[in-house]
Amino acid sequence: MVEMEYTTLGSTGLEVSRLCLGCMNFGSGAEWMLNDREESKEVIERAIDHGITFFDTANVYSRGESEEILGEALDDRREEFVIATKVYGRMREGPNGQGLSRRHVLEQAEASLDRLGTEYIDLYQIHRWDDGTPIAETLHALDTLVSEGKVRYIGASSMAAWKFAKALYTADIDNRERFVSMQCEYNLVDRHEEQNVLPLCRDQDVGVIPWSPLAGGFLADKYDPDEKPEDGRATTDEHTRNRFTEENWAVLDVVRELAEEKSVSPVELSIAWLLHKPGVDAPIVGPRTIDQLDGTVGALGVSLTDEEIERLEAPTEPVWSRAIGDV
Ligand SMILES: NC(=O)c1ccc[n+]([C@@H]2O[C@H](COP(=O)([O-])OP(=O)(O)OC[C@H]3O[C@@H](n4cnc5c(N)ncnc54)[C@H](OP(=O)(O)O)[C@@H]3O)[C@@H](O)[C@H]2O)c1
Repeated sequence: MVEMEYTTLGSTGLEVSRLCLGCMNFGSGAEWMLNDREESKEVIERAIDHGITFFDTANVYSRGESEEILGEALDDRREEFVIATKVYGRMREGPNGQGLSRRHVLEQAEASLDRLGTEYIDLYQIHRWDDGTPIAETLHALDTLVSEGKVRYIGASSMAAWKFAKALYTADIDNRERFVSMQCEYNLVDRHEEQNVLPLCRDQDVGVIPWSPLAGGFLADKYDPDEKPEDGRATTDEHTRNRFTEENWAVLDVVRELAEEKSVSPVELSIAWLLHKPGVDAPIVGPRTIDQLDGTVGALGVSLTDEEIERLEAPTEPVWSRAIGDV
């Protein structure tokens, strides 16, 4: 077993494993999910065996199921782990069923604590920017949760950099808790955040925890440009299928070549690339099975030279546009 590495999240003293286990697959919200509570808990257990101490979920993942599963799995050892969850997405129809109003944030924090079966959330993240709520109101609500001891740190996810900068300076001006982490889409074929939020995070010492580090499985080299996918997430998930572009296949060709030269798998190489990027604390890996998890952690043992990193990045020129980045 490769030895787990640990780091501190952004500028905080919070120790986290360098791989975070994403829990979006644990639930029944979409066809490509695991949809088996016991198997989900076995994957979590295996992650713990690998030394993973950092777990990411969200209230909207299968409308609470993912949080429940994680809560049950970590139940008797909660203090050993760092639990991150999120708020923003729609949890019920009608007014105040979603968003970042004080009303919804406070209500959802209580609901997440219940489902996770814990007294505190380590990292409470805003899942998206809410154009309908002033950020000062959201920060006030988050600040309340921290003062009440229900939340330890606050984080953010996928948004335009100017909005995130506004959130950081509003927190400073209003003397509120500051976001300590940014969870954004980042992998070898989705590098748009290099032109958006990543330079800001480095400047502000905000920890980066990339989501979809394998581009939904595309970088696992399981699909063929000339064939309709018959297996895997791409069969039912449009976002994964949208990665089937000429430019992305060119990236995958380089991944495959270099992986072979280094005698590692495309999965290990792709995650290793992320682990080498400055400012990245912990990619949020999303294995659906124990075998996939076992095939991922080896990334920690893969070293890359500057030249190899340049080779992997050569086929694409990252561009930020709201359409792809502010999803
Ligand atoms: N903040 C946000 O907006 C946001 C958005 C998305 C995700 N996230 C977080 O990020 C986490 C990870 O995202 P993700 O699930 O999209 O990550 P990902 O690693 O890019 O994709 C995961 C999928 O790739 C395939 N896979 C994973 N490991 C593999 C391996 N070793 N070999 C072969 N295939 C493998 C599996 O798909 P198959 O079904 O094809 O086997 C798996 O379901 C989520 O759990 C969630 O916590 C956050």
